[in-house]
Amino acid sequence: MVLIAPSILSADFSCLKDEIKALDAAGADMIHLDVMDGHFVPNLTFGAPVIKSLRVHTKLPFDTHLMVDNPALLVESFYQAGADIITVHAECKDFTKTLQKIKSFGIKAGVALKPSTDENIILDVLDMIDVVLVMSVEPGFGGQSFIKTTPDKIARIKKMLAGKPAQIEVDGGINAVTAQLCVHQGADILVAGTAVFQTKDYRQNMDALR
Ligand code: DX5
Ligand code: ZN
Repeated sequence: MVLIAPSILSADFSCLKDEIKALDAAGADMIHLDVMDGHFVPNLTFGAPVIKSLRVHTKLPFDTHLMVDNPALLVESFYQAGADIITVHAECKDFTKTLQKIKSFGIKAGVALKPSTDENIILDVLDMIDVVLVMSVEPGFGGQSFIKTTPDKIARIKKMLAGKPAQIEVDGGINAVTAQLCVHQGADILVAGTAVFQTKDYRQNMDALR
């Protein structure tokens, strides 16, 4: 069964505590936290203090997607804040060293790939990673259209991961139609912002993706 990771980028930021609780009650499998630094992507969101303040309101895993230039400097603070999975971009500074650092905390490490990044970049880190996060839009903003070449990329990554426990997560432009295309090629986790928050019935919106 595919797992649903709602991105709170599309939540009401004036009441994040209530939004997290509502997602938990509606059956979310984890919470996807999009951290942006205004450099790696042209947008700013939130950092470890916000995540720490949310941590006490749910037991769901916190899936932390770092869209920052230099994640090595920050991963410890996200671990301390209660992240269960920390994913860093393959395009970032010192990404292999950063993955090792994340693993040293005893939590899951992920590597994210922008749409134009060749998936072969993960070959050197296959034994270190728990998640491959395939971006199906350019990182930075919610509400963009799904890039149609993504399912083929997922299929190629699925082959590369044969025999490894790592999961494939897809992020951006996920709706009932694109979800199916991705799951068909081997996606294990679907990140969705717009599709989950489009109406107040979060359970129904997530079930539509499943
Ligand atoms: C984009 C973020 C995504 C985004 C997904 O940089 O990584 O998680 O919030 O939003 P939707 O589902 O609206 O494309
Ligand atoms: Zn994300």
